[in-house]
Amino acid sequence: MLRVSLLLCFLLTIKSVSSSTDNFCRDDFPSAPAFVFGASSSAYQVEGAAAEDGRTPSILDTFAHAGHFHGATGDVACDAYHKYKEDVQLMADTGLEAYRFSISWSRLIPNGKGPVNPKGLQYYNNLIDQLISHGIQPHVTLHHSDLPQALDDEYGGWVSRKIVKDFTAYADVCFKNFGDRVLHWTTMNEPNVFVLAGYDGGYLPPQRCSIPFGLNCSRGNSSTEPYLATHNILLSHASAARLYKKNYQDKQRGFIGINLFAFWFFPQKKTIEDELAAQRGLDFYIGWYLNPLVFGDYPDVIKKNAGSRIPFFTRLESQSVKGSFDFIGFNYYTVVHAKDNSISLKSTNRDYHADSAVKMTLPKRNESSSFEYPIAPWGLQRLLEYMKQNYGNPPVYIHENGQQTARNSSLEDRSRIKYVQGHIQALLEAVRNGSNARGYFIWSFLDSLELLGGYESSFGLYYMDLDDPDLKRQPKLSAHWYSQFLKSKNLTSLDGFLESLSHGYHSQ
Ligand SMILES: *[C@@H]1O[C@H](CO)[C@@H](O)[C@H](O)[C@H]1NC(C)=O
Ligand SMILES: *[C@@H]1O[C@H](CO)[C@@H](O)[C@H](O)[C@H]1NC(C)=O
Ligand SMILES: *[C@@H]1O[C@H](CO)[C@@H](O)[C@H](O)[C@H]1NC(C)=O
Ligand SMILES: *[C@@H]1O[C@H](CO)[C@@H](O)[C@H](O)[C@H]1NC(C)=O
Ligand SMILES: *[C@@H]1O[C@H](CO)[C@@H](O)[C@H](O)[C@H]1NC(C)=O
Ligand SMILES: *[C@@H]1O[C@H](CO)[C@@H](O)[C@H](O)[C@H]1NC(C)=O
Repeated sequence: MLRVSLLLCFLLTIKSVSSSTDNFCRDDFPSAPAFVFGASSSAYQVEGAAAEDGRTPSILDTFAHAGHFHGATGDVACDAYHKYKEDVQLMADTGLEAYRFSISWSRLIPNGKGPVNPKGLQYYNNLIDQLISHGIQPHVTLHHSDLPQALDDEYGGWVSRKIVKDFTAYADVCFKNFGDRVLHWTTMNEPNVFVLAGYDGGYLPPQRCSIPFGLNCSRGNSSTEPYLATHNILLSHASAARLYKKNYQDKQRGFIGINLFAFWFFPQKKTIEDELAAQRGLDFYIGWYLNPLVFGDYPDVIKKNAGSRIPFFTRLESQSVKGSFDFIGFNYYTVVHAKDNSISLKSTNRDYHADSAVKMTLPKRNESSSFEYPIAPWGLQRLLEYMKQNYGNPPVYIHENGQQTARNSSLEDRSRIKYVQGHIQALLEAVRNGSNARGYFIWSFLDSLELLGGYESSFGLYYMDLDDPDLKRQPKLSAHWYSQFLKSKNLTSLDGFLESLSHGYHSQ
């Protein structure tokens, strides 16, 4: 079986050289574990069982129950807490080599600190064992927007320096209990977006902001808190990563990193002003985190504009943050046009927000579906090249990439296949050109509770009818496509794949 697919891949590669078709296959990438293909999720978005077995609310529960997800909550979500066995079976059937999920901090340590919840421990042990026994690598995120509500109540969560100690203690529990089987740890999921949405605009939890930048908050300061939260997030990440490296890495032989959301910024016009704006966009959006991690300090352009509103790193802090990662994870969805907006940069104190440093617009969307992202795989290639040329080409995982559609649109999600296929191809070209990319995860495995779209939009390879009491998972066309790709069949292009269906090839 393997030999046949390798041969097909070989033949196809030869063919694709001459015709530069969009045919390529899994085995064109390094094989696992050097490079892994998987799919992603996060605890609150799939687990459900929100009040079961000792779990306490996170800031996402609070937000959802206030009605901010269009009435949707994660109380049940995909019920992955109870269905993990069948989900892992489905992952194995799909051919996933890795599964990225997050741990619910308040399930493992109710109230955020203090005693460990044995039921929480048991759930994650079961999930991890189940994955391992099916040959699927667990890639674990520690914080995916779901800070325990108790810590927000007690000291304001990430705006307080106290969070560093509590986060490190939580991470320690995870390394100690799961680190014999989990080799890939991500401390934070896209903190750059988490702080902009939660502390600037205030439209996502913990809903801290101030007028005129955010309108609906009862507390917060949009001019300072995004900087403050970021600083504490970086210190928390570094503290946990140092702990891992000191106490666990030698024995457990795993890796620890952090994840960032990345747009690729490109100049709207070919003018110096717009080119500088695009660079500013990258600095404000990802340099904000990457520069401290790689070089030990914030980018000059941010420090200059923020002045005393951005905390400074002491020498010890800087040393602790610098180099505190084995890999960087990126959530990449699309590109944005960058237009010079430096006047606003000077005249407002909203400078940490890329949108004020540059005017950001998305390229034209698919008019027949307002949910769908413009498909721009070349931006992913540029991003990886940028990492290579500016940040020393560290190991990178594409932790999220995928296409959003209306939740109930159709199981025949051809546009999702087109999107994913294009991005995997761009990734292949980047890898061939020397990028240190190590893996690719589709967001998302199942149709989940989306943090901006509630249950109205979805990214999943598998659909669930929310009215079905069993929440039966139904494969979309994209699940079949990904499965065929992963099993190294000869059918990665959409046309080839659709043709194969008409000839009765079917992997599932
Ligand atoms: C503020 O809340 C109102 C009512 O819930 C909503 O319509 C509006 O979009 C919110 N504004 C922002 C900036 O989040
Ligand atoms: C935010 O903090 C800055 C610096 O401490 C202060 O000047 C400003 O008045 C604060 N804004 C609000 C809305 O509290
Ligand atoms: C959603 O899809 C399901 C299954 O195809 C269907 O039964 C249901 O009526 C759809 N709901 C909406 C609101 O379109
Ligand atoms: C645009 O969206 C429609 C509806 O989802 C879909 O059928 C079509 O394939 C999409 N077009 C592209 C270019 O992705
Ligand atoms: C390939 O890598 C070289 C060296 O970093 C770079 O100059 C070139 O632009 C890259 N090509 C693409 C398509 O990214
Ligand atoms: C592989 O792809 C080629 C070209 O699309 C096609 O002619 C051939 O039948 C395919 N083979 C299999 C086993 O699908």
